[in-house]
Amino acid sequence: MQILTERLEMVFEQVRNACKEPGAARIIDVGSDHGYIAVRCLEEGLAGSVICTEIHKAPAQRSEDALTEAGFEDCSEVFVTDGLKGVPLQSGDIIVIAGMGGLNIIDILSRALKDNGFHVMENVTFILQPQKSNEIVRNYLSKTGFVFEDEKVCCDREIFYNCMRVVFKGICTTLTDEEACYGPVLLKKFSSGDKEVADYFKHLNGLFEIRQRSNPVIKSALEERKHNESQ
Ligand SMILES: C[S@@+](CC[C@H](N)C(=O)[O-])C[C@H]1O[C@@H](n2cnc3c(N)ncnc32)[C@H](O)[C@@H]1O
Repeated sequence: MQILTERLEMVFEQVRNACKEPGAARIIDVGSDHGYIAVRCLEEGLAGSVICTEIHKAPAQRSEDALTEAGFEDCSEVFVTDGLKGVPLQSGDIIVIAGMGGLNIIDILSRALKDNGFHVMENVTFILQPQKSNEIVRNYLSKTGFVFEDEKVCCDREIFYNCMRVVFKGICTTLTDEEACYGPVLLKKFSSGDKEVADYFKHLNGLFEIRQRSNPVIKSALEERKHNESQ
């Protein structure tokens, strides 16, 4: 079985939770690098087929080699492309975009929205694991019409990571600064006593104390959080 880091296990768990009918979905891993997620999804029977996309040839080759070595060449395809360019989405697809900067993720999603009809987009699940700019990603998602289904956190080798599961509904909403910076789903989990999220928020609070000096959105989020935590 493909061993995953704790961060990738969290991403994989989001894929598992998105799978309504194991074995039926097509899973697309954008920026697949070593192809670990794609291999694991096939090994565990979550996906009927996988597509890996990579902007660079060397990681695309790594993904292809991993899939071939694991015996999945017949149910996998690897493309050297930018994001989802040239990969028309289908209803039921699960798209993973992990380990990338938030602005890169937004760029990939914006182009996917332009290239695919609303009907298809409404029936696709996106698993997003931004390495940074979470507040910008969450604001983009809510303003564009995505809905947050879930968000998970983990601490992998002393670094915190988060991973969102979102679907496009075409209903545009606005987040408060607190929701954008901490995550609407994570705020709910915190309120219900989730220990992992509490640790994550403690870490974020420390980070935001520094970042608030140059970022008014973070400053306002931190003030809202402190106010709400004291209620
Ligand atoms: C840090 S690695 C993360 C790999 C894996 N997704 C993970 O979470 O461990 C980011 C990968 O995304 C690829 N990448 C970056 N921008 C991309 C884009 N626009 N389209 C496709 N791949 C991209 C990079 O080449 C790199 O292999």
